[in-house]
Amino acid sequence: MEIFTTKIALNQRLLKLLNEQKTIGLVPTMGALHAGHLSLIKKSKNDNDITIATIFVNPTQFNKPSDLLKYPRPTQADVSILENVGCDILFLPAETEMYSSTETWHYNVGAIANELEGAHRPGHFKGVTQIVYKLFSLIPADRAYFGQKDFQQFLVIKQLVAYFKLGVELLCCPIIRETDGLALSSRNIHLSETQRKKALLLSATLNNIKNNYTTLPLADLLQKAKTAFKGISDVKLDYIEIRDKDTLAPIVQYKTPNAVALIAAEVGDTRLIDNMMLD
Ligand code: PAF
Repeated sequence: MEIFTTKIALNQRLLKLLNEQKTIGLVPTMGALHAGHLSLIKKSKNDNDITIATIFVNPTQFNKPSDLLKYPRPTQADVSILENVGCDILFLPAETEMYSSTETWHYNVGAIANELEGAHRPGHFKGVTQIVYKLFSLIPADRAYFGQKDFQQFLVIKQLVAYFKLGVELLCCPIIRETDGLALSSRNIHLSETQRKKALLLSATLNNIKNNYTTLPLADLLQKAKTAFKGISDVKLDYIEIRDKDTLAPIVQYKTPNAVALIAAEVGDTRLIDNMMLD
């Protein structure tokens, strides 16, 4: 695997690839790679001539400095993982390579940015679009791969690509789960054994909604979900919502198709998110 840390060196390599008319798949990540990321790399390898992964813990998408500080950065392990899975190129820039100290970013993420994750993490999607736009401008990818776990992020990036008319196809890849249902996340390593067990409440709640979506009224489904979180020590439900999977508009009608259930909760100091399609 070739590793580039500067834009200029990566650019020279990309020019060669474009000249050779190679198709390029891009997998942007913040590192701390797990099987979820690997599934994106594998899909990209299957679809494209060349797969480029990026690892960059993007400071502008963290609204809490403490969260940024404790974000895991096992770079050496990540490099080995990418090498083993056959990733072709890794872009691993330093913060100064991606940001100037005076920079501002004016893209209007729109109403979607104030909802769900946006409401709980002000400025988060502004930071996500800022870095993703930079990566898309730098790397002329044919396709870019994102995980469904960050479903709202995927919709925000879809809007960004439509707004700037970027010529990249976006693929939303399924959530990878542990056998007991826990969605893989780079943040799971912060969970103690007890907290990890409590974290199963997220996927169990989503499964319960999915299984009863066409038989119980929405209000009952959501009430049941909220009740399940009551009185559980060390766990705080941020939201459980049923939304349209294209617009994220709230679903109000019983049995409406095209729905997704989204959940976020804090387990100890670790904030977890998960979601499930209801069709
Ligand atoms: O999903 C992530 O890992 C990040 O939000 C992304 C898309 C790499 C931007 O920093």
